Amino acid sequence: MSKVEEITRESWIMSTFPEWGTWLNEEIEHETVEPGTVAMWWLGCTGMWFKTPGGCNITVDLWCGNGKRSHGNGKMAEGHQMANMCGARKMQPNLRAVPFVLDPFAVKHVDAVLATHYHQDHMSPEYAAHVIQSNITTVDENGKEIPVPFIGPKKSVELWQKWGVPADRCITVVPGDSIRIKDIEIVALDSFDRTCLVTTDSTGPDREELMGKCPMDMDEKAVNYLIKTPGGNIYHSGDSHYSIYFAKHGKDYDIDVAFGSYGENPVGMADKMTSCDILRMAEALRCKVVIPIHYDVWTNFMADVNEIRVLYHMKKDRLAYKFHPFFWEVGGKYVYPRDKDKLAYHHERGFEDCFEAPQNIPFRSLL
Ligand SMILES: [Fe+2]
Repeated sequence: MSKVEEITRESWIMSTFPEWGTWLNEEIEHETVEPGTVAMWWLGCTGMWFKTPGGCNITVDLWCGNGKRSHGNGKMAEGHQMANMCGARKMQPNLRAVPFVLDPFAVKHVDAVLATHYHQDHMSPEYAAHVIQSNITTVDENGKEIPVPFIGPKKSVELWQKWGVPADRCITVVPGDSIRIKDIEIVALDSFDRTCLVTTDSTGPDREELMGKCPMDMDEKAVNYLIKTPGGNIYHSGDSHYSIYFAKHGKDYDIDVAFGSYGENPVGMADKMTSCDILRMAEALRCKVVIPIHYDVWTNFMADVNEIRVLYHMKKDRLAYKFHPFFWEVGGKYVYPRDKDKLAYHHERGFEDCFEAPQNIPFRSLL
């Protein structure tokens, strides 16, 4: 058969997707993390992979889905958190704007699967299926081999169990809880994700009526995490909005690197932190580096990090900021504290070995 006869839509999808194949899986596996450091990879949205010198690998909010792929009936589901928040009924044009940089089915080893909350873009049934089906194990505090735990707030645990993750694999956390895995300690902290508070259990005409009701307990819906590693303490704020209570977290814990969910909120929406909020969060947390995330993923919430840069330079001297922002790229690696003075990331550019092997050109002046 000729190429054009052989190729099908399915063969195209299989040969093209996920876009990065196993490139990043291999990079993470092969990474040797130096003593006193922690390596992190941004997987898109708020998805993060952490690897420590003690060989501890954890993921937070690894998600493998996408957004709108068809105009459908042009309507948003009644009871969707965004519809609840602003009373819009027109379909939200949230298309996925970043490639898939990790193949969840090619993950060979992980020590814990964490979620900050149960929204669609923070948990992955595909990844959960792979972790369960391939019987990946870790070790407990006594060095005993145990199945990899799924760690999250109550609503996340309920969703994992709905997907078929056994209950004894799940650990429900509330703010204040702490879990040790190999050479890290995970501390669950308060979330300030007010979008989570207007998320109902069901959508459609029978969705729960929220008007006049005191919000249910945030702690069951979402948590932030402080991940204490040999390389420093990393604060993952999930989809938290800005809160003055960041200042309490900043007083209670030494925070080195903080991730904040940044985005350009459409008119009528208050879902992501603004550039100003990201700087206020960093100042309140007393972190050394603040890294905006989440702005990458949805076409209708994409934001320019240069806005953070400009504001930072306007304010840093007067307010005596002790932190600086770092602008990352999805699929990129950040090693703390090795990279602590870096201000922006660029993917590897290659060609470091230029002119080390013979060229094949007609003459040198061609160059
Ligand atoms: Fe989100």
